[in-house]
Amino acid sequence: MSAPEPSAPKLTDARLLALLWRELTPYRALLILGVVLYVPLTIVSVVQPLVIGFAIDDGYRGNNMGAVLQWAGVFMGLVVLRSLVEGGQGLLMQLLGQRAVRTLRTRLFAKLQRLPLAFFDTQPLGRLMTRVTNDTESVAELFSSGAVSLVGDILFLIGTVVMLFIVDVKLSLAALVVLPALVVGLQWFRRRAREAFSRVRTAVSALNATLQEQLSGMSIVQLFARLSTAEQRLERENIAYTSANKEAIFLDAGIYAFVDAASTIAVAITLTAASVLGVAGVTVDGALSIGVLVAFIDALGRFFMPIRELSNKTTMIQSALVAADRIVSLDTEPETILAPASPKPAVFAHALRFNDVSFRYGEGPPVLKGLTLTVKKGERVALVGHTGTGKSTVVKLVPRLYDVTGGQITIDDVDIRDMDPRALRRLTTAVPQETFLFQGTIQENLCFGAPDASVDRLMQAAKACCADDVIARHGGLEGRVNERGQNLSLGERQLLALTRALVADPPIVILDEATASVDRETERRLQKAQEELLAGRTAVIVAHRLSTIERCDRIVLMHDGRVLEEGTHAELMSHNGRYAALVELQRSSS
Ligand SMILES: Nc1ncnc2c1ncn2[C@@H]1O[C@H](COP(=O)(O)OP(=O)(O)O)[C@@H](O)[C@H]1O
Ligand SMILES: [Mg+2]
Repeated sequence: MSAPEPSAPKLTDARLLALLWRELTPYRALLILGVVLYVPLTIVSVVQPLVIGFAIDDGYRGNNMGAVLQWAGVFMGLVVLRSLVEGGQGLLMQLLGQRAVRTLRTRLFAKLQRLPLAFFDTQPLGRLMTRVTNDTESVAELFSSGAVSLVGDILFLIGTVVMLFIVDVKLSLAALVVLPALVVGLQWFRRRAREAFSRVRTAVSALNATLQEQLSGMSIVQLFARLSTAEQRLERENIAYTSANKEAIFLDAGIYAFVDAASTIAVAITLTAASVLGVAGVTVDGALSIGVLVAFIDALGRFFMPIRELSNKTTMIQSALVAADRIVSLDTEPETILAPASPKPAVFAHALRFNDVSFRYGEGPPVLKGLTLTVKKGERVALVGHTGTGKSTVVKLVPRLYDVTGGQITIDDVDIRDMDPRALRRLTTAVPQETFLFQGTIQENLCFGAPDASVDRLMQAAKACCADDVIARHGGLEGRVNERGQNLSLGERQLLALTRALVADPPIVILDEATASVDRETERRLQKAQEELLAGRTAVIVAHRLSTIERCDRIVLMHDGRVLEEGTHAELMSHNGRYAALVELQRSSS
């Protein structure tokens, strides 16, 4: 089950800004510079229409071509100045945005690595991928084209209004009469857009989650000829995404049209007002000069441009807000598997114990119900039992991939929760049932548990685990491993996984024997590799092969989350209980 995703932002704009401010600690000075640059930019932009007005009144109307040229020169100078400041400022903001994405992404990935496995049980991978890629990107847009330039826009709007009122109060009042209606309308659009963008985000993350799952399960999809079902499911989510997007686009277009209409009406009102006031030199005894009127209309045209962008930007900010909210919710996800304040040393000299351990996955049914077991140093214990009794769960509890929900697991009488998880994981290596190799070289994969292992050591371990010819066949230690080791056979992957565990060289090995069947030759090699890994170590083995079981010092039969029978092979056979029945079943089937 996947937990629902937050769809409506819980963050306020102020908290979002605070978050970004924290994210940008090393770049605050640049950010401030970027914002401060808006002051000269605003002054230059506000003054431009006035220059046109002067050129008309002083130059053309005064029949003074020298003045015209002079004002044209000033205008050109302002244009150049503005381009320079605007370009530099835009570049600065883009760079800051990129920087913010980078730090956010690194932080989120580091965070993900610290989260308990239980968290990943409830989260589709695609959703997490969306967080780390798209959502961070969306936050960066705030810099490149969103929130920061909003500051500039607001400065410009205020500057223009002030300028208009200085030039002519009556005309200003007339021209800006549309403003209240504009503000109300924009508020309405803003609210709708916020909801629409939130839906877009949710839909894109669902789409990614499905795509990710279908792609990683491609072989099953093809094997079961579920192609059309997969396509239908993806299509459904694709439709949901497009329709969410359609609404957002509709609102966006609506805002443009709305602001455009307001701008045209403002110009019409200005012209009407001018005809009432009268224009000097055009009508008799006009109160206005033609230069002022032209400057006014030019300024109005400029005035509405950022307002149109303003709504565009608010939608962008809404979408960034939703994204930031998701990022914060991931960032504040509790890290439950933590090192205690003063961790006890992780040493193993005596015994690994399970004291009345109980466990359940999340809110699921209890899996372990009071498991008690002692594994002495040097002992090799086989865990057997029906599928679903919780054997693999035991394997996951020892390295604290999950924490017990009752009782405790101790190593030398120290609760493993009192140790630093990293130290604990150096003490134990778990070889899971399903082998996972990473994309990269064979060497990188083998070194996973011991980054400093020398080439000699790797080859030694590979030889011991009968994996040396596997490595040779795949181009040596530098040989490529594809994603999940898809270019290797099942047996080869298992041999490499055993080698990887041997390289890590832990005192305690928890091995979940793979059940997938391989040919007899590989089987023989796997057993030898396993034997090599276990030699001289303490081990708990979830065993399926009779030959493995027989080589253990003690056999523990689990049933229904508890230990039901315990003893040597011979003891349990003579007891003639469940174990004996299990062995009978195995013998008769092979
Ligand atoms: N990640 C998980 N989330 C929820 N339930 C799980 C998870 N892993 C295993 N289980 C459940 O726990 C029970 C025990 O599983 P497991 O330990 O893998 O059994 P075994 O290895 O003995 O076959 C099963 O009922 C299984 O469905
Ligand atoms: Mg299992």
